[in-house]
Amino acid sequence: MSVIGTGYLGATHAACMAELGFEVVGLDIDPAKVQALSRGELPFHEPGLPELLIKHVASGRLRFTTSYEEVGAWADVHFIGVGTPQRPGESAADMRYVDAAAVSLAEHISQDALIVGKSTVPVGTAERLASLIADTRARAGLPGTVELAWNPEFLREGFAVKDTLTPDRLVVGVTSAHAEDVLREVYAKSLSEGTPWIATDYATAELVKVAANAFLATKISFINAFSEITEHVGGDIGTLADAIGHDP
Ligand SMILES: NC(=O)c1ccc[n+]([C@@H]2O[C@H](COP(=O)([O-])OP(=O)(O)OC[C@H]3O[C@@H](n4cnc5c(N)ncnc54)[C@H](O)[C@@H]3O)[C@@H](O)[C@H]2O)c1
Repeated sequence: MSVIGTGYLGATHAACMAELGFEVVGLDIDPAKVQALSRGELPFHEPGLPELLIKHVASGRLRFTTSYEEVGAWADVHFIGVGTPQRPGESAADMRYVDAAAVSLAEHISQDALIVGKSTVPVGTAERLASLIADTRARAGLPGTVELAWNPEFLREGFAVKDTLTPDRLVVGVTSAHAEDVLREVYAKSLSEGTPWIATDYATAELVKVAANAFLATKISFINAFSEITEHVGGDIGTLADAIGHDP
């Protein structure tokens, strides 16, 4: 498999997929990042990740490149984990990196393949990208069937390895039984350990991630509001939070 974009999400995903036994190539457009990762060096701190990176670069199961030609000719499954930063002065996400990654893959894949989006995106992105990928390949007259699935990422920084190897849930937005079968094979170990599997449409998969982020923000705002109340009326916010947290 390939992992496109080897930042926080991508470097973690690539090393964890190698740990699960897959042959993985990570691709980034930043040559300095690719060179550092190839030497087993991470540009950020994440517990357990340096060990996995060094182990699998040494074993040859994990390598890094800047070449879309190389990944397009080699991998069957391509994860997209490039950034979706907020556009300056707007609440909208900047989609240029995701779009560029999808088009570059579409132009370079030379056999049947599944592209799997992991970046956090606005609803409607997967449907738009599926058309973009199909149009790009039709215009270039490329052979093979290239499908798209959406598989949002829920990892937490500081727990990224654990969250990737043993996720709380797996959500996949798919448009065919074949795409779901491929992803079940990718995540077979987690599934055998009982991880909940939610296979749905693109829009639901995209919205689950946005809703999960909003829900987390709501919980933080909620407990902050109660903390202001305890500052005025007395009471201990830590005990209160623990107490409501026992609700099954
Ligand atoms: N970091 C997290 O904790 C986390 C958790 C869940 C979801 N996400 C989502 O994952 C996505 C990536 O986040 P991140 O924190 O890893 O970002 P990041 O900035 O650390 O990494 C993004 C990488 O993509 C590369 N890139 C940009 N354009 C590219 C292209 N066309 N081809 C190949 N590589 C390209 C960049 O050079 C960079 O290395 C975002 O949508 C983010 O919201 C992140």
